[in-house]
Amino acid sequence: MEDDLQTILVSEEQIRQRINELGKEITTAYKQYGELTVIAIINGAIPFTADLIRAIDIPVRLDCMRVSSYRDDTKPVSDPELIDTLRLDIEDRHVILIDDILDTGKTFAHVVKLLKTRKPASLRLAALLEKKGRRKVAVKADYVGFQIPDEFVVGYGLDFAERYRNLRCIGVLKAELQNPPEWR
Ligand code: IMP
Ligand code: MG
Repeated sequence: MEDDLQTILVSEEQIRQRINELGKEITTAYKQYGELTVIAIINGAIPFTADLIRAIDIPVRLDCMRVSSYRDDTKPVSDPELIDTLRLDIEDRHVILIDDILDTGKTFAHVVKLLKTRKPASLRLAALLEKKGRRKVAVKADYVGFQIPDEFVVGYGLDFAERYRNLRCIGVLKAELQNPPEWR
């Protein structure tokens, strides 16, 4: 599958190391509370969340939210829309919201607004990747894995037309694979 990439931006080993660092940082910050609630924005955040929570050394309560996929290929087509919501109560809990990538900021902004109505004790944001200079709304992530250039990437949760989420590294697809008509 790696043959489908024109460049690898972040290797499997770099991801592993960085997630261990983030896990330690988060453990240190939240140890005082004895536990942490993690909310993953699925599907993209699944691999990152699965690895990150196992690098955290305090009990984690885990839940997921589903936001409509608003891209048909590599361009956003509309604003994000919530299509499935939380089961866990987050009132008075310390919460970290996780997404695969912080790009325009619209997804985080939308979900944060919603979560705040449920009165968490604190709310921080974690993104595996961040594209600087792409922000359309003011959002800052508290934990970021890697800064990447403004290129459309796939792998480790990030998809092109729902493909390649299972790649172990993160990279840019070869141009000829960016619009196969048979991919629905
Ligand atoms: P934002 O709402 O623009 O910040 O973008 C967040 C969402 O856009 C992520 O959850 C991804 O699903 C998607 N996205 C943004 N950039 C990329 C990319 O380079 N590859 C794949 N998905 C992306
Ligand atoms: Mg996506």
